[in-house]
Amino acid sequence: MNFKRRKVSLVKTKVAIINDVRDDIEYIKEAGSVIKEGGTVAFPTETVYGLGADALNSEAVKKIFIAKGRPQDNPLIVHVSSKDLSYLVKDIPKVAEDLMNKFWPGPLTIILDKKDIIPDETSAGLSTIGIRMPNNEIALKLIELSGKPIAAPSANISGRPSPTEVERCIEDLDGRVDYILGGDRSDIGVESTIVDCTVEPPMVLRPGGITLEMLREVDARIEIDKALMKKPTDDLKPKAPGMKYRHYAPKASLKIIRGKNEKTIEIISEMLENYIDKNNKVAILTTDENLSRFNKGEIISLGSEKELSQIAQNLFEALRKCDDLGVQYILCQGFEEDGVGLAIMNRLNKAAGYDIIDV
Ligand code: TXA
Ligand code: MG
Repeated sequence: MNFKRRKVSLVKTKVAIINDVRDDIEYIKEAGSVIKEGGTVAFPTETVYGLGADALNSEAVKKIFIAKGRPQDNPLIVHVSSKDLSYLVKDIPKVAEDLMNKFWPGPLTIILDKKDIIPDETSAGLSTIGIRMPNNEIALKLIELSGKPIAAPSANISGRPSPTEVERCIEDLDGRVDYILGGDRSDIGVESTIVDCTVEPPMVLRPGGITLEMLREVDARIEIDKALMKKPTDDLKPKAPGMKYRHYAPKASLKIIRGKNEKTIEIISEMLENYIDKNNKVAILTTDENLSRFNKGEIISLGSEKELSQIAQNLFEALRKCDDLGVQYILCQGFEEDGVGLAIMNRLNKAAGYDIIDV
């Protein structure tokens, strides 16, 4: 692509918090006009907050890349408020239709062959495009009132943990985008599952809130990109361009300790002592069940080990809290890779730069 990354010139950002879609509709209309006129709007979705612009307007889309400092080879997901995709994509295979019918609106992105109406800036030069219908009233209203499909990556500075609360969007994007719409915290907490429906068999390129088990109920052939859970190498790279970057990363050094519970607690405790002895500030990310097993450091529970959806919901916010606390090290226990655990471990692996200690 032929646009250079420019230094961000500060813009005035309007922030509006939506308590009730009907009472506060004027703000959503205003934000819709900003999109229509080629501006940028951060908005809530059920997965994480997104930073949106008109997906069909290349100049508007460039503003997203600049505001986030996003690598230009990383394509955006297009958000729609209706299942009529015929103006955006060439054809819709049966598996895509079945998945849309089952999971939309919801945390599932489907990759299809794009029509020329979608500019190269949005798809980062690819001939395919990811599309999803978010399950959030504010997001759906914004798309509808803007009259445009909205391209939106997560609303964070590139590389940082995705925001699940409006305060985090403001922290990252105030002065860099035109408008921020606030709503409730995102209840899924990790980004959408991405399924490439242009290949046979259909392939999961990013695990998320819709689990492999749920997808296979619709089509048993669906496979998962084998590169997802490993450190990328020259021979094995993830198929989604964005999955190869270090990502979701807190400023502190994050280490994942994975194994049987008792052994994990023992090793985390030893490492903790060691770091504290050397005058480091350390955070521990653990579960409600293990909380009382630690008595030093900044101890944060991600939720109950019995509810992986809680762990997913709290994950990114916990990583950002560690940064607020100014710790040098974060020690986090590993989780089972079943169900939404696959998405949790995928994000943790990436956030840790694959620094995983098996015990
Ligand atoms: O839940 C979500 O999907 C959130 C909310 C805001 O909707 N959005 C999001 O966008 O996570 P982003 O930009 O942070 O992640 C998009 C991912 C990247 O890894 C990108 O490489 C991949 O989707 N992607 C987009 N289009 C693709 C395509 N045509 N082929 C393969 N991967 C694609
Ligand atoms: Mg992102």
